Amino acid sequence: MNYHSIAIDGPSGAGKSTLARMLAQELGYLYVDTGAIYRTVGLCAFRKGVEPTDARAVTALLDGMEIDLRYEQDGVQHMYLDGEDVTREIRRHEISRYASDVSAIPAVRAFLLERQRELARRGDVIMDGRDIGTVVLPGADVKLFLTASAQDRARRRFAELQQRGQETDYETVLRDIRKRDENDTRRAAAPLRQAEDALLVDTTGNTLEESFQVLLQTIKERLQA
Ligand code: DC
Repeated sequence: MNYHSIAIDGPSGAGKSTLARMLAQELGYLYVDTGAIYRTVGLCAFRKGVEPTDARAVTALLDGMEIDLRYEQDGVQHMYLDGEDVTREIRRHEISRYASDVSAIPAVRAFLLERQRELARRGDVIMDGRDIGTVVLPGADVKLFLTASAQDRARRRFAELQQRGQETDYETVLRDIRKRDENDTRRAAAPLRQAEDALLVDTTGNTLEESFQVLLQTIKERLQA
């Protein structure tokens, strides 16, 4: 049986994960947050005291790294590192940079590629990330590229971090978002870019509900086409 797959790519903070989760719930699809998997690799490097830009040292860690993705009773994706639930920990601000740096290493991408594809073979999925439409699921039924201005994305991310009780300021978050955009788009291995057949959706100034409705409509139209 052939399942449906929906790929959502775009820069940090464009609202991909919140919207993908809402859409998955509405459509009855499984939601796969691939950024969380890269974050778990980043956390592993952080804990082991390995510089995330040191490709050789990070690659050496992959051999003994036990990463698990499980859907708990609440239907939420949980990440496990060596048997420990690290779902909350990977959201910490400093882990974002680690995730971005380790994701530029080709061996890390190769290590995670088949795992991501395997998830899409289990059922209907909405997968979000940076290279889902271009590399992981090039045959996805619907491809969306979600973006918003850097300021808008920084505002959302800042509010999210504040809610979690993390101390930071807006200027730092904006600077980090720009740095990550640059990292994610300039790397040689599977850089962030819009697939030719992806539809561009700019959520700048939209409320969550507005973006949700636009995306839902688009997906329904594309699935029927
Ligand atoms: O979506 P996120 O912010 O949780 O992702 C964390 C980092 O992982 C991001 O800087 C880029 C990287 N990433 C990637 O390279 N490819 C993906 N499919 C998903 C995330």
